[in-house]
This record gives sequence, structure tokens and C-alpha cells, in this order.
Amino acid sequence: MNFQISSLKEYQETYKKSIENPSEFWDEVASHFYWREKWEKTFEYDWSIPETKWFIGGKLNITENCLDRHLETRGDQTAIIWEPNNPKDTVIHVTYKQLHSKVCQFANVLKNNGVVKGDRVCIYMPMVLELSIAVLACARIGAVHSVVFAGFSSTALAARINDAECKILLTADGGFRGDKITPLKDIADEALKTCPSIQKSIVYQRTKQNVFWNNKIDVWWHDELRKVDDNCPAEVMDSEDMLFILYTSGSTGKPKGMVHTCGGYMVYATYSFQNVFQYKQGDVYWCTADIGWITGHSYIVYGPLASGATTVMFEGVPSYPDFGRFWEVCEKHKVNQFYTAPTAIRALAKHPTELVNKYDLSSLKVLGTVGEPINEEAWHWYDDNVGKNKCPIVDTWWQTETGGMMISSLAGVTNDKPTFATLPLPGIQPVLLDNNGEEITKQKAEGILAIKHPWPSLARTIYGNHERYKNVYFSAYPNHYFPGDGALRDENGNYRITGRVDDVVIVSGHNLGTAPIENAINEHEKVVESAVVGFPHDIKGNALCAYVITYDNVDESTDLINEIKQIVSDFIGPIAKPDKIIFVSGLPKTRSGKIMRRILRKIASNDVTNLGDISTLLNPNVVEEIINSFK
Ligand code: WTA
Repeated sequence: MNFQISSLKEYQETYKKSIENPSEFWDEVASHFYWREKWEKTFEYDWSIPETKWFIGGKLNITENCLDRHLETRGDQTAIIWEPNNPKDTVIHVTYKQLHSKVCQFANVLKNNGVVKGDRVCIYMPMVLELSIAVLACARIGAVHSVVFAGFSSTALAARINDAECKILLTADGGFRGDKITPLKDIADEALKTCPSIQKSIVYQRTKQNVFWNNKIDVWWHDELRKVDDNCPAEVMDSEDMLFILYTSGSTGKPKGMVHTCGGYMVYATYSFQNVFQYKQGDVYWCTADIGWITGHSYIVYGPLASGATTVMFEGVPSYPDFGRFWEVCEKHKVNQFYTAPTAIRALAKHPTELVNKYDLSSLKVLGTVGEPINEEAWHWYDDNVGKNKCPIVDTWWQTETGGMMISSLAGVTNDKPTFATLPLPGIQPVLLDNNGEEITKQKAEGILAIKHPWPSLARTIYGNHERYKNVYFSAYPNHYFPGDGALRDENGNYRITGRVDDVVIVSGHNLGTAPIENAINEHEKVVESAVVGFPHDIKGNALCAYVITYDNVDESTDLINEIKQIVSDFIGPIAKPDKIIFVSGLPKTRSGKIMRRILRKIASNDVTNLGDISTLLNPNVVEEIINSFK
């Protein structure tokens, strides 16, 4: 499969063609895949409904593209290198042949346990090889996977299982992360108390810790494997059939189950993978994300495997056993493309460069970042110490909703520029809008980022709530997809993402809606109301500050602060715990009762100049009081 752009000139020509004649362009790209039946029409869309369809009438199974297709050409090549949490444990190399066999086998386990096409399967697992196998096994039989990050709490897990009415849960006894063990089965057991749709829970044994066993629904993964063989023909899927649901935070309490479909997602994840990273056959590629996030879906599993790549899957964390772990792994597996998050880079940059320099990183050709804006300092640290000023850095802007990278340089082909995601990929049409929704035509400008034309891997809906999908992404600016980010554009058309323009805060690369955190805090019996905002943080990018109003006569003690943090951890997960909790007597509100988060954000960031006109507030006095409580 070769649709790699290899020069700046070719990028410019390809981009032009993709805009002038999108059907012809995408037909050509999609023709490099294996389809059971060719599509009749390339795409169709109406953003007033909104509805988008790609490769209409096409039939395929994504696992035939990720696995079967490679058996003859590279069956014995390593598909996945699995690197354990503890460097002393054994690395696993799985070839395409072996992976094919394992996926088919587990697909049969799912079938044996009653899973049929269209059923939703929740996957709550650590970064073991079986997580990739499980994802692919679902896709093999047309079941819809919903992976829930293994750092989420039982409440968050239950909410996601119930929203999608999952029939089966795939989990593990526990997971290793650094020197900690996450008791996944215990958390899942707690969640399942309120999940009536779950009929079976298939448990992978990783940590071998003692677990509670419910004979009615629990079965061991290894026992189930013994009952099946590895012959499992792929289910033939329509291009627009659902492939997976992945939840992302929104600005209201409920997470949004973004729905991705088979054909368009496959084409775009693979196309973007090969072009952005300039992956060459035989290279070893490593994305450090967790498969619980979209980055792991598109760029650990589907994009690389559909490209016949060798992809590294890492069970651990960057700090264990020390802050040199990433570089140790790069040296060990001779990694060529390395893709991580700014928050990890900033955390690593705090430590002596000796931890990087002691490893041989000469295999590295391309570095990548994703998840939040990368600051200048972190960019240069990455460039100097990891890339030794020889590796292009791809700063890839995209979202759970977009399925694949939207704005990014193509490594070594188009230019990178520190802190800029740079140019759109072929087929992607970003624009900047002003506050009235008018397109800003001036090249050098700042505004609201929006996308003008659909692309194959756009999420098609929010599971079970198309109205919300329409409201969040297509209503504010008609005829555009609205991602919720602001951006500026330089004189050469390069985009720099400036951050969220809605109530989502990105903490250590995790997308956290402030509303669900507020809801959790408000559950505390001593709390009347709360407001959560983000403020800049050296390592995490942003941290959370919660302003909390308590009932009269409540002791606003350290214990209460800890209880509030715990409640957030219980409802959402430890990643959502606020760094600061400030007790206040009121919150600045507009006359219509909307909390003025902008003011709270400024105060939390220690920037109280220029708070704007606060006289229109319902309760202007409270602002002064809040400022004072910070002193
Ligand atoms: C932010 C992650 C600046 C952005 C793939 C987006 C970025 C949100 C970048 C999506 C980047 C992602 N530069 N900001 N290169 N990449 N973002 O859904 O605010 O977890 O809207 O997808 O992360 O986060 P999500």
C-alpha cells in the first residue's frame, strides 16, 4: 500500500486535488484497501441533519485489512512488540500470523459467550497484549467495542456501560502501572452492581491477586480460550456500520459516546498514520498512549496494523523504574518513530538530561506529540535531547471526534514550526471564524477553529443522542464542524492551536469536562455548589481549581478538602482530582445565573488584572472576596 506523499511539492499538489475533487482523491486512497465489495458512492453529507456517509455501499472488515491481508506478504514479521511494565519481565513479539490466530480465537470466545454483530462490548483492561486482541476480536465479528480507560472509577465505568447497554465486560484481575497495582476486578465488580445489561464478564489474569468471583457472570479468559479454535471468518460489515464507541468528556455532566464507523475510519486512520509519520516498511513505531484513548485506537492498533507496521505497546509509565524508561525502551527496540504527549515531555524535562543521554537513540527518525498545545520550552527540550536536532517533530492536532490527525506536519516532508501544528492533511479544510461565525479570510489571524468539509473518519453521532451531537458540533456555526478549540494562523497558513474555547480542561493530556467534576463535588453532603476551572501548570499543562460553597457552620478543614478530592476520584477517577480547593461564600454569576468561569480562571491563574466589567454580575462583591481568599 503506498499513498505516501514524499515532497513539499507533492503535498501541495495532493492537497489542492483533495479539495478540488474530493471524490476522486478519496476513491484513490480507499482503493489501496481490501474491500469485500467496492463502494458505490464516495461520500454524501448534509450538515443540517447532520449526516455524513463515506464509501457508501462498500463492504469490508477492518481486521482483514489489519491481519489477513498481511499473512502472505509479512506473516512472520512482528506486528506488536509488547513491553512489560517491569523491565525485568519478558518482552513479547507477536507476528502477524500469531496475532491473526489469537484474534480469531478470542473472537470465538466472544461468540461462545453470546456476542453477535452489533452487540456492545465494554473493555476495561490494562495495557496487556490481550487488550489489542480484544479490540480486534470485537471488530472481527462486528461487535462494537467501547474501551474505558483503566484509570476510571467504578461510577464512571458504570455510566459508560449503561449508556451503551453493553452485553459483555472484558476486564482483568488487576493491572500493573509503575509500582502500583490497580484492582480492576474490584472496581468492575462495584460498577456491575448497577449494570443490568452485562451478562458475562470475561476476566484476564494479569496480577494473580485474589478476586471476588461471581459464578453467575464471571469466567476466566484462559478457561474460555481452551474451548475454541482459531478459525473465525470475518463478519462482512457495511462501510457505515458501527466499529466502536469511545467516550469523551463534554461540557455537561454526561460523557459523550462518540461513534466511529468501519470504512471511513479505517481509510483515514491508516492514510494519516502513513503520511504523518512517514512510516517505512521495517520501521519500529511506538506510540506511548493508552488504548483507552483515541490515540491508542487509531495509532497503536488500527492505523499501524492496517499499514503492516511493527507497533510497540507499552504496559508501564514513563517514570518507572526511573525517568529514563522511555529512552531505555527506544534503545532496546530500536524505535524509529516515537509519539507521545506534551505532559510526558514536560515531566521528563524536569529530570537530568543524563537520563536521556545515557541511551542510544540513534534509531529515532521522527518524533510526535498530541493531546494539547506544546509549549516552546518543551518543544526544544524534545528536539535537542531526544531528537538531537535531527528528527522532525510532528505536532498533531486532532480529537476523539475526528478519528485521525487533522492538522500536522508530515515528517520531513512539510516543515515543522515550534508550537504550531502547521498545515492540514489532504482532504481537511480548516477555517478560522470570528465571534459572529464569519470566516476570517485574512491569512494571518486568530479565531475559532472550524472545519468546512467532512472527512472519512468524522464521528457520525453521539451514541443514543444525535440531538446532542448536532448541538455540540454543528449548531454554533452552521455548515461547519466545530471542534471547540481556538487557533491562530501565521502568514504561511500554519495553524497554532491556542486551547479550548469551551468548558473542557486538558489535564496531563486528558480531556476533562468541568461539569461532571462539579457534579461529583456537589454530591458531598456539606457542599452547596461548586465551580471547577483549569489553570496553567508546569507539568500537567493545566491543573484544576475547584471553588466550593459549603453549608453554614461547616468546618472548612483539610479533612473536607481530602473528602472532596476523594469523591471526585470515586466518581471520575484520580486524574480528575483538583489541585486546589478554595472555599468561597458565592460564585460570580451573570444575571441569568451562568457562572462566569472566565473570571474564576483568571483568579486561579493569579492574573487579576483585566477581569473585565464585573459590574454586570449578579454579585460583583464576591469577586473581591475570592481574590482575597487566594492571598
Ligand atoms: C487538544 C486527542 C493543541 C485539543 C487526540 C483537542 C491539541 C483535544 C493537540 C482533543 C495539539 C489535541 N495541539 N491541542 N497537537 N492535540 N489537542 O479527544 O484541545 O482526547 O480538542 O483527542 O485535545 O482531545 P482528545
